Amino acid sequence: MATAIATPLLLLLIFFIFINSIPIPSLSCPLHQKQSLLRFKNNLITSFHSNSSFNSEYFKPFDSWNANSDCCSWEYVYCTGNTTRTVTELYLYAIVPQLVNPVLVFSHILTPLFHIRSLKLLDISMNGLVGEMPIDGFRNLTQLVHLYMMQNNFNGSIPPQLFELESLRVLDLSFNNLQGVLSPKVGNLRNLISLNLSANSLTGNIPEEIGNLTKLREFSLRNNQLSGGIPPSIANMKELETLYFSENSFSLHIPTGLGRLHNMNTLDLGDNRFVGSIPSSIQNLSKLETLLLQNNNLRGEIPTRLFEIKTLKSLFIGGKGNNLIWSNTTRIVPRCRLVQMSMPSCGISGEIPIWISSQIDLEFLDLSRNQLEGRFPDWLANMEIESIVLSDNKLTGSIPSQVFKSISLMVLDVSQNGFSGELPQNIGNANGTEILMLSGNNFLGQIPMSISNMRSLWLLDLSRNRFSGDNFPNLRDNLVLSYLDLSYNEFSGNIPVAFPTKLQNLFLGRNKFSGNLPWNLTKLVNLEHLDLHNNDITGNFQDTLPQIPTLQVLNLRNNSLEGFIPRTISNLTSLRILDLSRNNLTGSIPQEIGNLARMIEAPHMSTSGYVFTIYMSIYEDSKIVFDIQDLIVNWKSSFRGLSSRTLGIYSFLDLSDNKFSGEVPPPLGNLKGLKALNISHNNISGHIPVSFGNLKGVESLDLSHNKISGLIPQSLAKLDELTVLDVSNNKLRGKIPLGGQMNTMNELKYFANNSGLCGMQIRITCPEDVPPREGREEDDEQQLWILWEGTWVGFPLGFFSSILIMAYCLNFLQLFRFW
Ligand SMILES: *[C@@H]1O[C@H](CO)[C@@H](O)[C@H](O)[C@H]1NC(C)=O
Ligand SMILES: *[C@@H]1O[C@H](CO)[C@@H](O)[C@H](O)[C@H]1NC(C)=O
Ligand SMILES: *[C@@H]1O[C@H](CO)[C@@H](O)[C@H](O)[C@H]1NC(C)=O
Ligand SMILES: *[C@@H]1O[C@H](CO)[C@@H](O)[C@H](O)[C@H]1NC(C)=O
Ligand SMILES: *[C@@H]1O[C@H](CO)[C@@H](O)[C@H](O)[C@H]1NC(C)=O
Ligand SMILES: *[C@@H]1O[C@H](CO)[C@@H](O)[C@H](O)[C@H]1NC(C)=O
Ligand SMILES: *[C@@H]1O[C@H](CO)[C@@H](O)[C@H](O)[C@H]1NC(C)=O
Ligand SMILES: *[C@@H]1O[C@H](CO)[C@@H](O)[C@H](O)[C@H]1NC(C)=O
Ligand SMILES: *[C@@H]1O[C@H](CO)[C@@H](O)[C@H](O)[C@H]1NC(C)=O
Ligand SMILES: *[C@@H]1O[C@H](CO)[C@@H](O)[C@H](O)[C@H]1NC(C)=O
Ligand SMILES: *[C@@H]1O[C@H](CO)[C@@H](O)[C@H](O)[C@H]1NC(C)=O
Ligand SMILES: *[C@@H]1O[C@H](CO)[C@@H](O)[C@H](O)[C@H]1NC(C)=O
Repeated sequence: MATAIATPLLLLLIFFIFINSIPIPSLSCPLHQKQSLLRFKNNLITSFHSNSSFNSEYFKPFDSWNANSDCCSWEYVYCTGNTTRTVTELYLYAIVPQLVNPVLVFSHILTPLFHIRSLKLLDISMNGLVGEMPIDGFRNLTQLVHLYMMQNNFNGSIPPQLFELESLRVLDLSFNNLQGVLSPKVGNLRNLISLNLSANSLTGNIPEEIGNLTKLREFSLRNNQLSGGIPPSIANMKELETLYFSENSFSLHIPTGLGRLHNMNTLDLGDNRFVGSIPSSIQNLSKLETLLLQNNNLRGEIPTRLFEIKTLKSLFIGGKGNNLIWSNTTRIVPRCRLVQMSMPSCGISGEIPIWISSQIDLEFLDLSRNQLEGRFPDWLANMEIESIVLSDNKLTGSIPSQVFKSISLMVLDVSQNGFSGELPQNIGNANGTEILMLSGNNFLGQIPMSISNMRSLWLLDLSRNRFSGDNFPNLRDNLVLSYLDLSYNEFSGNIPVAFPTKLQNLFLGRNKFSGNLPWNLTKLVNLEHLDLHNNDITGNFQDTLPQIPTLQVLNLRNNSLEGFIPRTISNLTSLRILDLSRNNLTGSIPQEIGNLARMIEAPHMSTSGYVFTIYMSIYEDSKIVFDIQDLIVNWKSSFRGLSSRTLGIYSFLDLSDNKFSGEVPPPLGNLKGLKALNISHNNISGHIPVSFGNLKGVESLDLSHNKISGLIPQSLAKLDELTVLDVSNNKLRGKIPLGGQMNTMNELKYFANNSGLCGMQIRITCPEDVPPREGREEDDEQQLWILWEGTWVGFPLGFFSSILIMAYCLNFLQLFRFW
């Protein structure tokens, strides 16, 4: 019995000894790699612990990273190897939470990772890391095949050590802030198949050595500041499939050799400064699907054979800068099936080419800024295209009603043409339309009521036509409507208010609207821009001023408003531009205007006005930018159009041509952000407040045609931006201040008709500047004379002196009579 039990025990024992004597594979990662990773974790967490308000929940996944477990089992970590397992892949993307107020995490937290020499893949993208990329670190990572560092905030140059990693196949450093030039050493990365350096701040040229990357398939340098030409060596990169070089400053010719890259699928050279013609070799790219050449300095004829590339789907040529012509439009027998065709400013004349009707997949058509003539073709109306942009041509006739049968229509822009007639009653059937722009045509009649069925509409521009009617359709259920422009038409009746609360921009100027400012405007709680100028709006302003805190621009110029400016004007806390000129407003200017915060602070460069960029869904590259509704302001004594692109940076206050009385309120001097202040043509009295010396942004200050008395305060010499100061037709007296810009204010008409102004600017010596008399009268007169016309000095004095003085006075009067 005993032996019977003992035998298996013995066997077991022997077995154990046996097993222990052969090497068992270590299933755990090397200790030094574990330690490196733990140091990295520690660095990361310390970065956050310095900030007590941080919520540690974000680092839950790192709980698995502890000293007692195998690091190969940790979250984000992958190991390979059957006998010895080593860390080869680290997926550390988006581990740093991108909070609203992000915690600054510096790039040096990465240092421990550079001890893990076995890494083949390192992904630390989307972490917002700041500082320079570690310089020496990469020297250790010779095995690296994939390196993803996009969407951080790395600055400084690309470490040259990176270019020695010969195994590297994918390098993505896009969306950082890397500066400096692209080192010729990039040519060492000959195994690379994907290189993405887009959205950095790289400068200089592409090195010739780029041609050594013969295995590269994807190459993006988009959105940098690179210049020079594309090196001809690019023709060696036979595997290239996608090339994104747009949004740089590349110049010179597009190299012909590109036509030898037969795998090319996407060629994006848009928004650069390429010169010369479109190389005809491009038509040899038999796999080309996307060709983007827009906005360069290209010249010459568009090669018709481009349309014979069977695979071509997206074509963007033309645009600003290019000066291409396309005279063969009708001879084209296309073999392509375009989805997007964008040919603005391509010198296309004649009718809209009929062969476009063969492009049955077409979703986006932009033929704007050409010289197209004739009618809107019926075949085009029947094609069910999503976006049709035909603005700035010479098209005539009416818009066929079939256009609006299409529920796929999203964008229709026919502005600046010669279209006429009434809008089709069925317009509302196109209820997927988001943008409808008909401005600058001869359309007339009423707006069809069916337009209120266009529930997706967010931009409606009917301006500069002859539309009329006093019953504008109710758009209150078009919940996304954000921009509505009816200006420069013949609409009448009360101001329409049946709009959704989303509305931000409402332009109703230059119509025949009448009645009071409707109280319901106040319900448009997101309104930023309200323009009602040149209508016939009546009523007491104080009772009807809409109380909209988001309002930035309020233009009521040239109406018939009465009453006064209420103190609640200061509730309009976003107001930057206020134009109440040419009304019948009375009372004094309320002090509260001095509280308008957006006129006090320096204008934001970031608010860029009204530029709409439509990104098409298929390629983000395909965008159309609409630049609409330029504001016209009275600035520096003339009416000027401010481009909507820069509108955001201006701040104006124009109260001219009313019946305001009382004194100038000193708090107006708070409005440091104003570029123009105009209170002219009123009945304002009192003095110019000393506080006006604080209007440090002001370029144009018009106080003319009032009853302002006293001295011009010396503080105005502090106004460094001042270029126009008009104080004419007041009761000012005394010396015009000297110093700074005041020395350049020598336009006589701007000082005319006051009660005794003097000063160097208007060439009248002030009494206090006349040196004390010493002896003969002639000396005094001589001084004056020298001031007036210095060249005459030397004439016998005495005899002439009294005549000269007379001449001087006459001359002066003469000047004023002229103005
Ligand atoms: C590890 O084992 C797998 C199969 O289990 C094998 O395919 C692979 O080649 C081995 N790798 C090494 C490095 O031995
Ligand atoms: C700390 O975090 C809070 C919120 O995440 C942030 O507002 C603050 O700026 C941070 N402070 C520092 C010093 O990073
Ligand atoms: C490279 O790795 C070794 C350990 O393998 C380490 O001692 C050294 O500091 C690393 N170099 C850098 C620059 O990180
Ligand atoms: C990079 O950014 C860091 C931190 O923001 C800064 O200290 C450093 O000077 C910058 N380096 C360069 C080359 O701009
Ligand atoms: C380059 O990176 C950006 C941002 O990560 C990405 O949007 C883009 O598609 C990439 N381009 C290529 C060619 O990989
Ligand atoms: C790399 O490119 C340069 C410049 O184009 C060339 O002179 C050099 O011979 C290339 N190196 C190799 C190994 O092909
Ligand atoms: C297009 O390719 C053919 C043959 O591959 C070649 O003969 C022709 O010269 C090329 N055309 C252009 C414009 O490069
Ligand atoms: C335009 O058509 C003519 C005649 O068919 C042709 O000779 C010429 O090469 C074409 N031009 C272009 C740029 O395609
Ligand atoms: C558009 O109209 C069709 C029927 O005419 C309807 O089925 C669809 O829901 C409408 N779409 C919208 C966004 O109103
Ligand atoms: C103004 O708003 C009221 C509800 O507050 C509504 O009954 C009235 O119809 C609106 N007026 C106009 C002209 O839309
Ligand atoms: C201003 O009011 C006066 C009467 O007080 C009137 O004669 C004049 O037409 C009004 N001007 C405007 C622009 O409404
Ligand atoms: C406007 O401001 C006054 C005080 O100036 C305040 O009493 C009133 O509630 C404000 N109205 C709105 C709508 O904010």
